Amino acid sequence: MSKFFSGSAVIAAAFALVSCANSSPAEKTTLSLSETAQSHSNQTVWEKFDMQRCVNMGNSFEVPRKQRENGGGRIDKEDFALIKSKGFDTIRLPVKWSDYTGPAPDFTLDPTFSNTVKAYVDEALSQNLNVILNIHHFDEINETPAAEMDRLVSIWKQVGALFKGYPDDLWFETLNEPNNQLKGDIMRQSQALAIKAIRIHHPDRIVILGGEFWSNWRQLDTNMVAPDSNIVFTFHYYEPFDFTHYKAEWTKPDMPNTLRSWGNQTDKAELAEAMSGIKRYKVKTGQPLFLGEFGVYTSIKNEDRVKWVDAVRREMEAAEIPWCLWAYANTFPIYNYESGKWDKDMLDALGLE
Ligand code: BGC
Repeated sequence: MSKFFSGSAVIAAAFALVSCANSSPAEKTTLSLSETAQSHSNQTVWEKFDMQRCVNMGNSFEVPRKQRENGGGRIDKEDFALIKSKGFDTIRLPVKWSDYTGPAPDFTLDPTFSNTVKAYVDEALSQNLNVILNIHHFDEINETPAAEMDRLVSIWKQVGALFKGYPDDLWFETLNEPNNQLKGDIMRQSQALAIKAIRIHHPDRIVILGGEFWSNWRQLDTNMVAPDSNIVFTFHYYEPFDFTHYKAEWTKPDMPNTLRSWGNQTDKAELAEAMSGIKRYKVKTGQPLFLGEFGVYTSIKNEDRVKWVDAVRREMEAAEIPWCLWAYANTFPIYNYESGKWDKDMLDALGLE
């Protein structure tokens, strides 16, 4: 089953509703890496999580290793200045670390790949962008979680060592979209073990957690209870799935193939239901919460894509939920490498210029 497709069948748990405000973003500094790290050490998670508008660097470092080695997964260092100039404050960098591990028990990461990722993180940070670095497409852990737990821990120990001493604008997300067998207790165990490995070198760094079933908002409550105060929760929103993923080849065999638009009363009610569940969770945990992925495939008419993105973005902002569009130049692109042009209507829908 592809992601989110049966999401509507799952009922969200009900929580007490109280209001809780996000803090306004702190001014970015131009201090050196170590000075910046020091200057942030006493801030709360709400102050450190100074994110509002983010874009996913999708289909770059998370494409399969073979594809990258054959010239796929384009990402340019110049992208970050361009992204910053449009008003984004954060990038999410998905990385398929699991394709670059050596044999057990050390699972040593390929140093050339690690250093390449590091150089891109450095460049993004130097453009005063926050960077969300994750483990993406670790497919094996979703199939056989217990057998892959040591590899998960080892990746985080090594990535943690690689970024030791980095400023607080770098955030780690333990694993993209847990799914399949990675659910319930073992999913929470994977979160706890990843955090423990990260905390060796990063006692105060923001760590981001997403719940089971592709981090659908309905599964937010499957997350572990925050083990410390520097935890942020995330969810993904692609509903209605038959609209956002119409003809998306990678969702086979559940690929929705009936063209539809978006915006009728039922659609709006679905979004409203999601928003009330999302807000409840934010209040329940008392931790920041953000939308880590949302977007519509290009098989849908652009005016409908833009309408959906505009509506979802506005709802999130009204609820003080920062967002991260999927994606920069691939899959659901907002920027075209060939023409060097942005999708102006989409920028508009995001409230950017
Ligand atoms: C996946 C991408 C996919 C996107 C939209 C992401 O989580 O990693 O491969 O294009 O979701 O479905």
